[in-house]
Amino acid sequence: MEIRYEHASEKYAESFGAAVDAVARERKYLVATTGFPPESTIEFVRDLVENNLAQYFALDGETVVGWCDALPMRSEGFRHVGVLGMGVLPGHRGRGIGTKLIRLTIKHAKKVNGLEKIELQVYKSNATAISLYEKAGFFREGERIDARKLDGRYDNLVLMGLKL
Ligand SMILES: CC(C)(COP(=O)(O)OP(=O)(O)OC[C@H]1O[C@@H](n2cnc3c(N)ncnc32)[C@H](O)[C@@H]1OP(=O)(O)O)[C@@H](O)C(=O)NCCC(=O)NCCS
Repeated sequence: MEIRYEHASEKYAESFGAAVDAVARERKYLVATTGFPPESTIEFVRDLVENNLAQYFALDGETVVGWCDALPMRSEGFRHVGVLGMGVLPGHRGRGIGTKLIRLTIKHAKKVNGLEKIELQVYKSNATAISLYEKAGFFREGERIDARKLDGRYDNLVLMGLKL
């Protein structure tokens, strides 16, 4: 089936929550190792929609198979910066979905939300994501050594940024 790309809506919040949970449980790519309670995911999406923030879903029918968001930091002095997060379900990776999602999200963050910079953190072992981010124009800004220790393995966190 053809993949559709839509701005976040509450209609897909539950499916979005399930996608986050599935990627988190892979225990490789996200900080979280499980998803979030359904109520807090719905609240999160509602707040984002109300403020017209940058979050896009990739949809296979009514199922969220990928997401990307860049949400402004909340503290005074940092609100020009958005923090990017994303994921694509395992069966849908490597088909250009992540590329499309990040392009839509960056464009929205800049043009609609007026953000000036996007930042993210990615595990050094996650070569696919680092490659995607570099292709989208992100630069490496630093690295936290042995930032994660999970299942007996250490991983560094690479800090990346994109000036819009
Ligand atoms: C990272 C992720 C979002 C990329 O989404 P995707 O839909 O698979 O990405 P795309 O198909 O658009 O590929 C984008 C780029 O990633 C790289 N890439 C894709 N598949 C790859 C693979 N199997 N091995 C190495 N690089 C790969 C390529 O550079 C590719 O660009 P190209 O097609 O122009 O060569 C996805 O793999 C994912 O969800 N991973 C797990 C969750 C995650 O890592 N989230 C980010 C946390 S910081």
